[in-house]
Amino acid sequence: MVSTSGKDQPSDNESCYVEMEEEAEYQRQLKLFSECSQEKSIELVLIGEVISGLRSSERFLDIGAGTGNLTVSVSQFFAETTIVEPNERQAGFFRRRYPQFRVDDCRWEEVDLGSDQFDFILCSHVLYYIPTHDWLKTIDKMYSHLAADGTIAIVLQSPVGEVAEFFRKFSKYDVPVIELWRNLTMTYGYQSVQVRYFVNEIFAETMEDMVDLGQFLLLDRKYRGRKDEIGKYFEERHKVDGGYRITQDEILLTIKRER
Ligand SMILES: C[S@@+](CC[C@H](N)C(=O)[O-])C[C@H]1O[C@@H](n2cnc3c(N)ncnc32)[C@H](O)[C@@H]1O
Repeated sequence: MVSTSGKDQPSDNESCYVEMEEEAEYQRQLKLFSECSQEKSIELVLIGEVISGLRSSERFLDIGAGTGNLTVSVSQFFAETTIVEPNERQAGFFRRRYPQFRVDDCRWEEVDLGSDQFDFILCSHVLYYIPTHDWLKTIDKMYSHLAADGTIAIVLQSPVGEVAEFFRKFSKYDVPVIELWRNLTMTYGYQSVQVRYFVNEIFAETMEDMVDLGQFLLLDRKYRGRKDEIGKYFEERHKVDGGYRITQDEILLTIKRER
């Protein structure tokens, strides 16, 4: 399937098959990532700290909920949970398994939540899927749905640290967190914007698993053809006793809406 024109285009069945295969591969890598890192547990502790400072815990909005490994735990603290998740399979899973949640299966940029207001809005590892020049507009839409005394929490990978370095070696993508932080401070005020830093350790016993994790971190399936290069990178820099270890620095930005 080299050409994208005329008769070489995949049939509906073929594209559906490729999509399912990719989805299965993504789910496998995601499962491996959950087993090899404490990222979500650390994130949950920090999110818990933010939630404990809220005045009201009526309504929670999760943007880009993914597999729900943050959503489900966080939802326990709120009377109502709303999810915006464009991945149809994930949205379908939430509808079947958690019928009490409201689920919108579209992108955040497209969703119409009317005049709904939320006490807590979570956007964890989602901004990468939106062009950086649209980030402020995207966050402003979140702010327009934030109740008085409510808080938005945005989690992003830090531009420094071992995973960021690995990213830079294979991809041109850089996360402009400092610029975002500065712009948020200018828009919402110094008192309303806070930043927390945390470091997660990723450990794999085998090189095969470490390469899978590397491909998962790189987000794009085009890196599947560069397994040897990725393996060499980890072998030279991240080999430790009993396996491979890389640290991932992350940032939690919060914006509070003052009454
Ligand atoms: C890396 S996952 C993060 C999942 C979860 N928030 C977490 O931190 O574990 C990114 C999720 O964002 C969703 N997503 C991508 N673009 C989006 C958009 N424009 N609006 C809302 N969600 C989006 C994807 O479908 C995916 O489920």
